[in-house]
Amino acid sequence: MKVFNSVSDYISSRSGFEGPVGFVPTMGALHSGHRSLIVRSIEENQTTVVSIYVNPMQFDNENDLVAYPETLVEDQATLEALGVDVLVLPTYDQIYGDGFRYQVLENLFSHELCGAHRDGHFTGVLTVVMKLLNIVRPQKAYFGEKDYQQYQLISDMVDAFFMDVEIVPCTIVRESDGLALSSRNLNLDSCARAKAPLIHELISNVSSDIEVAQALSEAGFDVDYVETHDGRRFVAAKIGENPVVRLIDNIPVAMP
Ligand code: PAF
Repeated sequence: MKVFNSVSDYISSRSGFEGPVGFVPTMGALHSGHRSLIVRSIEENQTTVVSIYVNPMQFDNENDLVAYPETLVEDQATLEALGVDVLVLPTYDQIYGDGFRYQVLENLFSHELCGAHRDGHFTGVLTVVMKLLNIVRPQKAYFGEKDYQQYQLISDMVDAFFMDVEIVPCTIVRESDGLALSSRNLNLDSCARAKAPLIHELISNVSSDIEVAQALSEAGFDVDYVETHDGRRFVAAKIGENPVVRLIDNIPVAMP
């Protein structure tokens, strides 16, 4: 695996990559959800590029950024073992040489669901993803449906800006008890971990959003939202102390 610590070195080498190129952007703390995206990219492309960059501009909460797990040595070993061709490890100064003067703003869906609870989150996500896609120049980029709102906003951004890349959604990978895999699961203490599968259980079995929210609150979750939009049911809820862990999930639901 070729590792680039410098964005300009990557850009100089890019024309030598065998195509098509598949790209999996990550913030590290890799789990089986990431693995499934990477395996799919390896199956569908000649070169697979992964980036690890913890993007401070998408964290609306300083404590969440500080608590974000950092596992670079393990992540690098995982990527080598999977057969990833290229790893890009950009720095803040390389990504935000403009001081975040230029930003990608979306004015509708980014203010709903997670956007209504995380000020500026999707501006940070869309801006970094636009930059990473322009740096990496893949034919296909892979995103997990656990972050379905993120996937939808990125897919719409690519259409809106006529970007020459296919955004590929990948199904959620779950633990055997139903908990959707997330890097933040590493921060769940044993009590919070025991309660966490309730999210998937309730959204799969209780038909009213309000009743799901009530049941989660009664179980000790601090619920941000339970909402159904366009045939999909979305939930975000916080659990645990020190750190508080914000979990999200979604499932497709039959339209009435
Ligand atoms: O889903 C993530 O891990 C991040 O939001 C992404 C897409 C890598 C952008 O920082």
